[in-house]
Amino acid sequence: MQKPMRVVITGATSGIGLHAAQQLLSQGHRLTVLCRDPKRAVERLGSPTPQLRLLPTDLANLSQVDQACQQLRRDNEAIDAIVLNAGLQYAGAQQARFSAQGIELTFAVNQLAHQHLVTALLPLIQAAEAGRVIITASEVHNPASGGGRVGQPAGLGTLDGLKRGPGFEMVDGRSDFDADKAYKDSKLCNLLLARQLVSRLAHERSTLPVITWSPGLVIPRSADGFFRDSRRVNPLGQAIFALIARDLLRLTVSVEQAGSLLVDLISADQFAPGFHYLSNVLKGPGRHQFEATATSDEAANLKLASELYATCSSLITHACSKPSGTA
Ligand SMILES: NC(=O)c1ccc[n+]([C@@H]2O[C@H](COP(=O)([O-])OP(=O)(O)OC[C@H]3O[C@@H](n4cnc5c(N)ncnc54)[C@H](OP(=O)(O)O)[C@@H]3O)[C@@H](O)[C@H]2O)c1
Repeated sequence: MQKPMRVVITGATSGIGLHAAQQLLSQGHRLTVLCRDPKRAVERLGSPTPQLRLLPTDLANLSQVDQACQQLRRDNEAIDAIVLNAGLQYAGAQQARFSAQGIELTFAVNQLAHQHLVTALLPLIQAAEAGRVIITASEVHNPASGGGRVGQPAGLGTLDGLKRGPGFEMVDGRSDFDADKAYKDSKLCNLLLARQLVSRLAHERSTLPVITWSPGLVIPRSADGFFRDSRRVNPLGQAIFALIARDLLRLTVSVEQAGSLLVDLISADQFAPGFHYLSNVLKGPGRHQFEATATSDEAANLKLASELYATCSSLITHACSKPSGTA
């Protein structure tokens, strides 16, 4: 058996991350799961053991994210893989929702919390023999992709909304609120975060594989999962979408398949240091191929990556310097 790895993971209580976590546990790896609902985590992954640690953390609250980082830094144990997989979208909703610090929720959870985690834990990842960063992104970041072409495209403009600070609804500061675009934007931000991490590491004369990936469209049959919020807003529309995309056209992959792809990224040894983007590309009904893929041009813009990272860092520093619970 492969040497047990120490994996820190978000989004392991549902969907893709849950299936990956179950496989990793069965393979003997050690998991630290950041979860907002420890009861749900116990129901799905089992009670904590030396192999499974649960760290209650609502990613929509930067104070809690900061506390989790501080705890892991105090533990001072090398991290073989950090897996930034948690994600949400609430497409169909008319009103923006906000995190504890007043940041639009999709951006707060999908991007800001993950930037704080990976930045704070980077020394522990670098301390591992073959540490790596894995970020679950999505093809919808790319306006030229099948999913990215539907609705308002991803695009961050000059980050004017983000630069205004708490209360912004859209990162570009000029689009009307659109929850679907907010999700696409957050996934574009995930890729830019990976680009900036690679640049930053190179600047420090250090290297790590920073692996971003897109699982393909995953529509679980269970009542929860990725489309739960959209289903609440538009149950009929979502039922028709699932029927057509999953059952008739067979455009989707199962959560189990997507979870296995994530496990492979965590444990495979073929990754060279630097940036990687792999996508589970649809080749025909029911046929996908997981392969290295080009990102959109905007997701390769290193100047934008640097500016996004710096703006997020200021927001994080500001939020974490305030007493817990104040916005
Ligand atoms: N499904 C797709 O078609 C698809 C396609 C491309 C990319 N992705 C990406 O794949 C990743 C996993 O998605 P999925 O399909 O597995 O969705 P999912 O079943 O809804 O799982 C999302 C996970 O994120 C966690 N999460 C959400 N908000 C959180 C918060 N505030 N604090 C802590 N944890 C939070 C959820 O925790 P709870 O269990 O507590 O809710 C859950 O564990 C996401 O990054 C998503 O963007 C999905």
